[in-house]
This record gives sequence, C-alpha cells and structure tokens, in this order.
Amino acid sequence: MRIYPDLKEDDPILQLFHKGVKGQWSSSEFDWEIPFHLDESEANAFARVLTPVYLGEQTAMLGASTILPHFVQAHETSAQLYITTFMLDEARHFEMLTKVYRLLGRKPLELRDLREMFRYHYRLLKSKNRLDWLFGILISDLFAKNFYGAFRKTFPDTLFGKLSTRIILDEARHQAFAEHYIGALRDEMPHEVRDRLLEMRDDLLFIMHAMLKKLQDDASIVGIDGYGILQELTHDIEKKVHIMGLDKEERELSLRAEEEEEHRLLREIEAKNTSS
Ligand SMILES: [Fe+2]
Ligand SMILES: [Fe+2]
Repeated sequence: MRIYPDLKEDDPILQLFHKGVKGQWSSSEFDWEIPFHLDESEANAFARVLTPVYLGEQTAMLGASTILPHFVQAHETSAQLYITTFMLDEARHFEMLTKVYRLLGRKPLELRDLREMFRYHYRLLKSKNRLDWLFGILISDLFAKNFYGAFRKTFPDTLFGKLSTRIILDEARHQAFAEHYIGALRDEMPHEVRDRLLEMRDDLLFIMHAMLKKLQDDASIVGIDGYGILQELTHDIEKKVHIMGLDKEERELSLRAEEEEEHRLLREIEAKNTSS
C-alpha cells in the first residue's frame, strides 16, 4: 500500500472512477408499481431466463472483492478506486434483480440446473490473475449487456425494461475499464497469456451455448431470441479482442514482422562483418 499515491488526473482509469461515482443511482428512483404484463407461464419462463444474468451479477460483485488485493499488490491505485464503484454497481444490479424476483413471486433456477454457468463463475472467482478475471468479467458483462438489451426491446414500457436501460449504462463502464486495462498491457503481455485468454474465451462461449440451449424454450416463451443473443455476443467479443490487440492473426503477422526484422538485422551485421 502507498500512503500518498500519485493519482494523475489524466489517468483514464481515474476518469472511469469519477464517472462511476457520478453514475450511481438506486432502486428507489423507479416506480415499482408499473405492471409487468406477464401471464403465469411467461413469468415462470422469465424467472428461468433471468437466472444466468442474476448469477453473473452476484459473482461479479463477489469477484471484485477478491481482485482488489491484486490491484493493491501491483500498486495500481486508480484501479483500486475504480473497482469499488464496479462493486457497488454489481451489488445494485444484484439487489435489483432480487427485488424483481420478489415482485414476480418466482425464484431463480437452482445452481444444479445451471452447472455450466456456475463452473464459469467459480473459475473466475478462483482466478489469481487479474487479467484472467478481467477478461472473464468482460465476457460476462457483454453477455449481460446483450440480455438486458433484449429485455429492453421486449419489455420497453415495463419496470424491467427501464431497469435494463439503466443497468446497460453501468455495464458500458465496466467494459470500458476491462478494455482499457487489458489493452494497455497488450505489448508486454507474454504470448502464453494471450493464448490462455483466447482459450478462456472459447471455453466460455461453449458454456454459454450449452446454457442457452437449455433455456431456449423459456426464452421463446418470453419472446427472446437466445441464439440471436449468442450471435451478438460472439460478435461483440471478437470486436473487443480486436480492440485490445489480442487477435491471433494480427499477433502472427506482428510475430512474422518481428522475425523478418531480426533476420534483416542479422544479414546487415553479417554483411558488415564480411566487408570489414
Ligand atoms: Fe452488472
Ligand atoms: Fe458488470
């Protein structure tokens, strides 16, 4: 810990912390009396479809507390500040969805019904590496963003539609942090780490496929296109991977360029040696 850290105003992570502080809100700002207009079977299906998102909110909140000491160890003060707003955001989302379940008079699925998703979050919670955790959380945030986006479109004038719109704004800040943090490390990131993150992406997408297959019938009862969400998610993840400079092809191209440069330098040295 540093008692008087050097916090630079132009640090983009500190700016995200400021945005996070200004962006706080609470469930009391919403009219919880707005009717939801779901019949019995739709309400049952909705409660099931919402479960992976609900689990994601809860584990993101818990994960923030496990990752904070890693930022302390790395003396990354602005990241420590930022993660406290992230934790409060996720706590709010978790509490809000708990309220939604209570309002619906329904319960989420049990963990045993969502083993794949639970394994995903358990893996993130156990992660000792902040890059792994952030990358996993980024994918989880994108997953949440796509779900809330679908809810917003399907239930525009309901309380849940309005909550979704608000939550998406918080999730956008979370994505910006992960994107910035991981992107800033790309040049010094060992190739094995990139490979590990990309492998993780593949595992997580596989898990989400399996989970959505299970929830497909419920999703169509509430009018949500599960596969459409998955397609969008895959597209979003690819976009982020590209922005953060983790692409396999790009990496191979830059490795080849590096090798060619080395060969060129070697040839130059050899040519100098033979001429002297
Ligand atoms: Fe969230
Ligand atoms: Fe989030």
